[in-house]
Amino acid sequence: MHIPILNLKKQHELIGSAIEGAVLNTLRSGNYILGQNVETFEEKLAKATDCKYAIGVANGTDALVIALRALDIGPGCEVITPSFTFAATAEAINLVGAVPVFIDIDLNTFNLDPNLIEALVTPKTKAIIPVHLYGKPCAIDRIMEIAKRHKLHVIEDNAQALGARLNGKATGSFGDIGCLSFYPTKNLGACGDAGALTTNNLELAKRIKKLRAHGMEKRYYHDEVGYNSRLDEIQAAILNVKLDYLPQWLTKRQILARHYQTRLKDLSSHLIVPNEDFDNTSQSVHVLHQYTIRLKKPKSQTNLRDHVANQLSQNGIGSMIYYPIPLHEQKAFSYLNSVSSNFPNSNIAACEVLSLPIYPELEITDIDNVSDCLKQILTRDLSLV
Ligand SMILES: Cc1ncc(COP(=O)(O)O)c(C=O)c1O
Repeated sequence: MHIPILNLKKQHELIGSAIEGAVLNTLRSGNYILGQNVETFEEKLAKATDCKYAIGVANGTDALVIALRALDIGPGCEVITPSFTFAATAEAINLVGAVPVFIDIDLNTFNLDPNLIEALVTPKTKAIIPVHLYGKPCAIDRIMEIAKRHKLHVIEDNAQALGARLNGKATGSFGDIGCLSFYPTKNLGACGDAGALTTNNLELAKRIKKLRAHGMEKRYYHDEVGYNSRLDEIQAAILNVKLDYLPQWLTKRQILARHYQTRLKDLSSHLIVPNEDFDNTSQSVHVLHQYTIRLKKPKSQTNLRDHVANQLSQNGIGSMIYYPIPLHEQKAFSYLNSVSSNFPNSNIAACEVLSLPIYPELEITDIDNVSDCLKQILTRDLSLV
């Protein structure tokens, strides 16, 4: 059996000729920076995210940094963000000189628990960066309510959730700014690094455009210190091709996820599957960047999750742990002196989560094989549970 966690080579076999054509056209155009491809992509992306403006940048981390800068968040400011996310979310806060303030998650959603926000707000708090982790919208409606009450900015880390919706509204369009990553493994992935910011605010859009290009609006007139963080024409050409496939890819991800739900149902005493309908016609849409299960904490010393991941791998099935160490436990953030017991759910998630293969190029039979293998491992090694 060979079912990797992701198979970008297979994706390229299916749609590669259109991508190669778009790249070749760009190479032949002689125009490589901030040209027609970027402009077209920004227009298409704005529509896809219910936003008036989309601005392409070099990667998702830069998008977060630029979003913070555009909102004048820097030294002396605190920014609330989940302790269970990819490090870039908190790195960006550090990179602008502000202090990340970690908040625990809700284990049912893996997203920040809005009930914990108000206790963390201080006079220095200037913003919240919620994450729509794994492609599931966080409680952004409640977060917006709280942010409004405390006059806080909201930057949505939408890196994993392009196309997701809450109550009919696209993630990334609730807060001041949404940040996207097109890292190759994302639901919409470039063939290299790329990212974008989305906003409905014209002034912010102008400032972001300036910041991505050395702080200049007029060439060689630098209004402020900015970045070299432009989206490449070649990557934009690729993203333009792939963006058209995104709706059908989402439908396929949802079909696969529904099949996992059916096949894993009778294992519910050992594992927890995402509690969702996975229907893209409903008002709230999870885009399944990851299909992440939890393997319940074992009574024995052996970590059941690690054991299962290992056994899957021996059977040719890929899986991934997003993320094995919560941010409050990472060396890079040890200077914050976080108290681990303040993040019980992040700690549990880090020990129990396992993401299974889910991507449009998979077939239903692949999901059957992964599910059967999981069942076999859990039945055989039941003494571990
Ligand atoms: C939640 C989250 N935030 C931020 C990023 C950073 O994006 P990039 O890798 O494009 O810098 C990523 C992806 O890598 C991510 O998953």
